[in-house]
Amino acid sequence: MVVVKNICCIGAGYVGGPTCAVIAYKCHDIKVTIVDINPERIAAWNSSKLPIYEPGLDEIVFERRGKNLFFSTDVDATIQEADLIFVSVNTPTKKTGLGAGMAADLAYIESATRRIAEVATSPKIVVEKSTVPCRTAQSMRTILEANSTNEIHFDILSNPEFLAEGTAIKDLLSPDRVLIGALQTKEGLAAQEALVNVYTNWVPKERVITTNLWSSELTKLAANALLAQRISSINALSAICEATGADVDEVAYACGLDSRLGPKFLKASVGFGGSCFQKDILNLVYLSHQLNLPEVADYWKQVVTMNEYQKKRFVRTIISTLFNTITNKKIAVLGFAFKKDTGDTRESAAITLIKDFIDERAQVAIYDPKVSSEQIFMDLCEPGVVDTRKQVEKQIQICSSAYEAAKDADAVVIVTEWDEFRDDQLDYERIYKNMHKPAFLFDGRLLVDAAKLRKIGFKVNVIGKNE
Ligand code: NAD
Ligand code: UGA
Repeated sequence: MVVVKNICCIGAGYVGGPTCAVIAYKCHDIKVTIVDINPERIAAWNSSKLPIYEPGLDEIVFERRGKNLFFSTDVDATIQEADLIFVSVNTPTKKTGLGAGMAADLAYIESATRRIAEVATSPKIVVEKSTVPCRTAQSMRTILEANSTNEIHFDILSNPEFLAEGTAIKDLLSPDRVLIGALQTKEGLAAQEALVNVYTNWVPKERVITTNLWSSELTKLAANALLAQRISSINALSAICEATGADVDEVAYACGLDSRLGPKFLKASVGFGGSCFQKDILNLVYLSHQLNLPEVADYWKQVVTMNEYQKKRFVRTIISTLFNTITNKKIAVLGFAFKKDTGDTRESAAITLIKDFIDERAQVAIYDPKVSSEQIFMDLCEPGVVDTRKQVEKQIQICSSAYEAAKDADAVVIVTEWDEFRDDQLDYERIYKNMHKPAFLFDGRLLVDAAKLRKIGFKVNVIGKNE
């Protein structure tokens, strides 16, 4: 039986960092080292201010760091001493070349795999943690096998990650399931068992699912596609609600009580964001095209199309409600992260909305409790174009509170569902008093009690409602 004693994780990002910190926290006899080619990121992991905000993460890292949890830029040495290596690097959508705008860019996966093949001096279990197109393990295996000798043997596993940002630690400590795919060979099954034994240190055995490699890879894409599909479905219904007088919260609640449907992931919104839903669906669309399944590709593509429509629809509602022009009007945007409890802004709906407001020549005041000003500028400017930065600087103001953002504003737009924007936490009377009148409020997250705010005097517009 193979016993894992030394783990290397390549990629100290939103997945590699929390996932391997939790392994170190739960398995004191395993040495876990997380490596990255980005020295600033590693320095931050070794500092008192970690590079990502995630509730509960600090406590876990600070407890195990320097004991059995390490962060390093020494990729080669860490690979050499490990018996199991997680590959947890980024797999963004390709920007150029074949499959641009759709296929996953596997350059980081390949370079990490080649590094393992080049420097390994003993057998390794290599685990795909990143989200990848189905059959990527085959390419990794080919690269590794081309470099294996009698003494150095590589086994490859797929162990996709299902954590959601903002609840990563909770999800990792108590996952719905852990999925481990392996080649159905004697060695593959032994490697699978070794990783199962790591997780069963804290995850009940019945929640650790074992499958073949390809089912595991495809399940990750499928799970994200199904989750995003539910959001696009409720968002499509939100448009019908607004046109008919049905209330999307009531519809979602009544549908969700059907035990076959369930209540989760039916919250209408200004559109889903995050680094993965769109990327992984496009990945599935690309895969379907490659497999000559155009109808399947079109089916999944529609989930992304609907999401884009929802964001644009919300902008159109705002503009038409503000008498068809927002030029020189002040719009206060509450929230910039793609969801609450994270500082991550990747694919956040806020970016699309604010770019549209800027195009309409509005003045935009932004407040988010966890996103830095520099990040907001980076997201709103075209990289390398000096003029856009100047223009963006003229039109946006980054604020340190919701009150500052809403001062003298014509409209407040709730984009991220941070708890502090709820009507029992924020003093909406104070906000109303300091706004231009009529004072409009657009709730893209079904967060506030519209009736209560209307009593204060706001003109309230809520996604999926027409009151
Ligand atoms: P990330 O961009 O935050 O982190 C990836 C890290 O890998 C970066 O710090 C980068 O510098 C490093 N890296 C790239 N190539 C490297 C190499 N050759 N050697 C060493 N380090 C290297 O990405 P992430 O959000 O952690 O996502 C990682 C993967 O996990 C992606 O495939 C993503 O789809 C998947 N995933 C993400 C989430 C999430 O919530 N973010 C959840 C589940 C799955
Ligand atoms: C999502 C999945 O939930 C994770 O299981 C998966 O591991 C991860 O993607 C990934 O592969 O990266 P994440 O994107 O972090 O996690 O966050 P979610 O909670 O799924 O939210 C995604 C987006 O959908 C957010 O913008 C959120 O506000 C939005 N959303 C979510 C809705 O609009 N309505 C809902 O009912 C739920």
